[in-house]
Amino acid sequence: MPVDIVILAAGQGTRMKSELPKVLQPLAGRPMLEHVLERSADLDAESVHVVYGHGGHQVPKALADWPVQWILQEQQLGTGHAVTQAMPGIADDSVVLILYGDVPLINETTLAELLEKAEAGSLALLSVMLADPTGYGRIIRNDHGQAQKIVEQKEANETELTVCEVNTGILACHAGRLRNWLAKLGNDNSQGEYYLTDVIAMAVAEQYPVDVLIAPDEIEVMGVNDKQQLAELESANRAAKAAALMKDGVTLLDPTRVDVRGKLSCGQDVVIDINAVFEGEVELGDGVNIGPNVIIRNSKIGAGCKVHANTVIEDAEIGESCELGPFARVRPGTVLEATAKLGNFVEVKKSHIGKGSKVNHLSYIGDTEIGERVNVGAGTITCNYDGANKFKTIIEDDVFIGSGVELVAPVTLEKGATIGAGSTISENTPANELTLARSRQTTVKGWKSPRDKAKE
Ligand code: UD1
Ligand code: CA
Repeated sequence: MPVDIVILAAGQGTRMKSELPKVLQPLAGRPMLEHVLERSADLDAESVHVVYGHGGHQVPKALADWPVQWILQEQQLGTGHAVTQAMPGIADDSVVLILYGDVPLINETTLAELLEKAEAGSLALLSVMLADPTGYGRIIRNDHGQAQKIVEQKEANETELTVCEVNTGILACHAGRLRNWLAKLGNDNSQGEYYLTDVIAMAVAEQYPVDVLIAPDEIEVMGVNDKQQLAELESANRAAKAAALMKDGVTLLDPTRVDVRGKLSCGQDVVIDINAVFEGEVELGDGVNIGPNVIIRNSKIGAGCKVHANTVIEDAEIGESCELGPFARVRPGTVLEATAKLGNFVEVKKSHIGKGSKVNHLSYIGDTEIGERVNVGAGTITCNYDGANKFKTIIEDDVFIGSGVELVAPVTLEKGATIGAGSTISENTPANELTLARSRQTTVKGWKSPRDKAKE
């Protein structure tokens, strides 16, 4: 049965006290709504419909890459009204799943279970048990435990207020049925809103089965209204990711100080020290060791690599048994072949570094091809930019570059060349020869300094 997902994301989120619409507030480095879109994508829906409102076109603009039907709800007249806006784009024979842009950690397994119930022909509702249910709609069940209706906090009587099973807002139902009920919603309640929750009583009145699934975990159905709740979810998410890593055998020196803000996959015997941050898709091979304060984004780190403290790696591919840092910066488009080494305060951008080559101290390597077994001396830099254009530097196998060399691109250092320290190389250097490009050292005999003269 086709599934259509409707995500409500029109709320203003006043309590965030921010220019940014609530659903764009970042969790694990990405908009909350993007987390919901990601989980929706995993469900193979026919179509995903996002109802947005506050913040105007900021929301569709920020997530323009997602294949989503954007529906503007100009006035926020209630959750029932919001869902109604999406219904014209949904066929009667579909199952509708309603999610929320500010409930970002909802679990796929829970949703799959809910969908199964809806497909089997019931109005499937997700509830959760809360120690303090204040503010939420209460699930009211009859003596046989069957759900009869949802009563909002503001409409609830004293007995109803004592109920600790609350509505998460997430539900699934046959589209045709839902459409009929939505058409009958009124707004005669304390808030003058069209409550989606009123469809429960309508289903009961028509003897349409209502099936309530109790969420196993409070975190996955937790909505975010303020920065406090956002931080709570951030740390819950961090803890969940850390737990999953440890379950897979990864050693975390402190699970409360590792941030996985995307997908991290690890081989065997990976060790991660404190304050490591992983963003986007990161792959760590067997035996990789990550030092403290390391940041890695969208990169692959080969087996046996050691990434020392304070190293930052972005959009790069690191071969096996390489060593990086401390304080190395690897920028996008960099590839390191096996056993290459980047030492402290070395920045590499869009370069290919061959097997066993070393750039050990205080260097900048940009737009460069480095062959195998090359040694780049301390303080050597490539001058790849003339203010308008970028040029390439080619350093062939077995080249040895002394310290403090400037390589003015475009330039090629042929195989086995040796470059004397302090050289400024602006022309190609021949293979297996020593090239020097610096002024000769002279000593002025008997020279007197102004200080000496003053004393005379
Ligand atoms: C709603 C439920 C309540 C449930 C609670 C869970 C109703 C009537 N009540 O209450 O039973 O316990 O969620 O958090 O549904 N939204 C729109 N457009 C609107 C109105 C709301 O997009 O016109 C979105 C909001 O952005 C928000 C969500 O729907 O993400 C819930 O709306 P809100 O007004 O916060 O409902 P609650 O009063 O919290
Ligand atoms: Ca709410």
